[in-house]
Amino acid sequence: MNVPGGVIVLDFGGQYTQLIARRIREQEVFSAILPCNASIDEIRGMRPAGIVLSGGPSSVYDKGAPVCDTSVLRLGLPVLGICYGMQWMAHSLGGKVVKAEHREYGPATLDRDKDSTLFHGLPTHLKVWNSHGDHVIGLPSGFETVGRTDNAVAAIEDASRHFYGVEFHPEVQHTERGSEILRNFVFEVCRAKKNWNRASFVSDTVEAIRKQVGDARALCALSGGVDSTVAAVLVHRAIGDRLSNFFVDTGLLRRNEFQETLTFLRNRLGLKVEGVDASERFLARLAGVTDPEEKRKRIGAEFIAVFAEEARRLAAAANREMRFLVQGTLYPDVIESVSVKGPSAVIKTHHNVGGLPKDMPFQLVEPLRDLFKDEVRLIGRELSLPSEILLKHPFPGPGLAVRLLGEVTKDKLEVLRGADAIVVEEIRRAGLYDKVWQAFAVLLPVRSVGVMGDYRSYGYTIAVRVVTSEDAMTADWAHLPWDVLEKISVRVVNEVHDVTRIVYDISSKPPSTIEWE
Ligand code: XMP
Repeated sequence: MNVPGGVIVLDFGGQYTQLIARRIREQEVFSAILPCNASIDEIRGMRPAGIVLSGGPSSVYDKGAPVCDTSVLRLGLPVLGICYGMQWMAHSLGGKVVKAEHREYGPATLDRDKDSTLFHGLPTHLKVWNSHGDHVIGLPSGFETVGRTDNAVAAIEDASRHFYGVEFHPEVQHTERGSEILRNFVFEVCRAKKNWNRASFVSDTVEAIRKQVGDARALCALSGGVDSTVAAVLVHRAIGDRLSNFFVDTGLLRRNEFQETLTFLRNRLGLKVEGVDASERFLARLAGVTDPEEKRKRIGAEFIAVFAEEARRLAAAANREMRFLVQGTLYPDVIESVSVKGPSAVIKTHHNVGGLPKDMPFQLVEPLRDLFKDEVRLIGRELSLPSEILLKHPFPGPGLAVRLLGEVTKDKLEVLRGADAIVVEEIRRAGLYDKVWQAFAVLLPVRSVGVMGDYRSYGYTIAVRVVTSEDAMTADWAHLPWDVLEKISVRVVNEVHDVTRIVYDISSKPPSTIEWE
């Protein structure tokens, strides 16, 4: 999608690239991401008001370090380089970048020496968030230093050419008033006009889907979660009854989830949804598999196989081809799975992206691919979906398989379902469900000794995982009240057969991830 007059983010592979685009969209200005090596014609063709060069994991002197076409700096457009983006711009314009003696990760203070449009209205000292091992020690001609941290030049500008660079990350929450820095760039430097909001996202996306699908038919992988539901509603608006929805029971769903979700989607949302019980084939495909990536890949492949069969069945019935598969893929699924638009590091293969086989018979329709979960919730509100669905915790596509470490078996799934239902119930009872990002149980392949009714027991360990987060890119463990933890612990060992020990997961993301596999 493109809206002229927006800000284009050129991606050098930074983990925070999408946050930049999202912060700009929060100002109601369109922003899209292109790979750093996008052609100059493509960039110009989008008629942007300005360009942001993202951060990235490389050093400008690395062999094969990502680069842009340097004519990006000759388009006459304002440019903001962030971290690697600033280093690349300085390096390309004749400045000097070196490996830092003191690498900067985490908080630092920016001390500003001079006024700058970029920092208009902001104090001269600001807490900023860094993540870099190189820094700029020689400025290109025309540039001036605007601010420093203890260790490095942290902000530079060539105001006459509208070129700005910051070594820190204004897009992350931890940078004090970072959004205002980006707002200054967007409105005061680029002179962009507000041209994007939720209503326009809905109408632009519906239009884009209509164009993509034409008069063909589409199949939606509906899971009852907010992402696929919002995706389905958007596609339904675009192509009406040419969309068929399916909800697959993978055998990896939570207690009662299959029936309850089908009822909700049909009765509350009025969607036409077919339930497909594929639990036996998923479990057979997972037999003997313990490697987390292998599990994810097999589940992804099985999903596609199921959909392909359903599509063929439906196409035969309608005597027409089913060419499109709708998925509620979000940006974090993409960024952590594959290097889509830039050279970001792969963290996990999310089932709805990395596991797709090459000969897949579908083209994907992924209307939410550039958004974060909380943006999707806002879009859902725009579409008037019930808050019950909008506030639902995320549940991963591979389901309980990534919360059950080791081989997935029916018996272990039952144990996990029992524990999980109690965790969620107690979190709801304590009024915490809407305050935390996710709350769930994990079954560990660790048995330990317990004592029950004077007898020795030897059962499973359940880890309770409850996290707070804004967008799943980073997360913290929820500091739950002791009495809530106590209730969970007592109920799980008493009510779930075969569990002798409960532990609470107190890891943040990073370095851990939210799911255990
Ligand atoms: P991690 O474990 O990577 O999870 O910190 C981040 C968020 O993504 C969810 N998640 C998934 N969602 N397909 C999905 O649709 C997947 O394969 C998948 N894996 C993780 C996870 O629940 C958390 O909210």
